[in-house]
Amino acid sequence: MTDIITEQATAAASGAAATEQFRTKQRTGTAEADTKRVDTLVSELLAAAHDIIRRRKVTYAEYDALKSWLIQVGQDGEWPLFLDVWIEHVVEEVSNENREGSKGTIEGPYYVPDSPLLSPEATLPMRDAEEGTPLLFQGQVTSVDGTPLAGAKVEIWHADADGLYSRFAPNLPEWNLRGTVIADGQGNFRIRTVEPAPYQIPTDGSCGRLIAAAGWHAWRPAHLHLKVSAPGHQLITTQLYFRGGEHVEDDIASAVKPELVLDPAPAADGTGNEVTYDFVLDKA
Ligand code: DHB
Ligand code: FE
Repeated sequence: MTDIITEQATAAASGAAATEQFRTKQRTGTAEADTKRVDTLVSELLAAAHDIIRRRKVTYAEYDALKSWLIQVGQDGEWPLFLDVWIEHVVEEVSNENREGSKGTIEGPYYVPDSPLLSPEATLPMRDAEEGTPLLFQGQVTSVDGTPLAGAKVEIWHADADGLYSRFAPNLPEWNLRGTVIADGQGNFRIRTVEPAPYQIPTDGSCGRLIAAAGWHAWRPAHLHLKVSAPGHQLITTQLYFRGGEHVEDDIASAVKPELVLDPAPAADGTGNEVTYDFVLDKA
């Protein structure tokens, strides 16, 4: 992946890295091509498009603009970004509608498996002078019946103070602000990191061009990404946000849920903020 990361954080570079990362992910190959299902889904998708064209009397100029934009999204490697911003939240909604435990939300394009293993009380890998308010993020992982889940796995990744993700933007240490924390015998974890900044969808690529053309904004609220798992339980993929933060109310990716908004308070030890958030996992 390193060879496609250039010096500048460009849409093309992070798009290419996100596309590459998606191709290596196991979920890619798991959809079985059931003819009937493909027929239903694609026919209904096309019918919805035909309906819009008739109702809005789409012109050839607009059809050609769409065609060239779609070609460009692929060339920019921005399909993972486009899909995760504007489509994934509804797939997440229907996939997890029957869960009783903690809420999930979208994964986004920047998850990397196998981040460094850390003990229950840990500081995420970061640079010496990592910018951002120090944050102590702590909590407990339990099962829906309240049983503490000893040794639960808390994978966490987030952007830095410039809104950049390690492995996808240049010039960041490989695992910056990423880690896999193993909870203690009571399912407890204490993670030291820094508060992330709001994240802006790259504005110099096709997704940015769409946002500008439609008069939208390109922002996601500051967020922590998490995957929490334990044997015999369903993995949760989620994000946590910060109350009062910019764009919590108008996330471009529509991924905020009221249950996912944190209320950090000044830390007891006087450095930065701290917040407690517990995860409840459904049985597998
Ligand atoms: C995108 C980026 C994110 O950090 C995220 O959580 C969701 C989507 C994106 O650029 O598509
Ligand atoms: Fe993100």
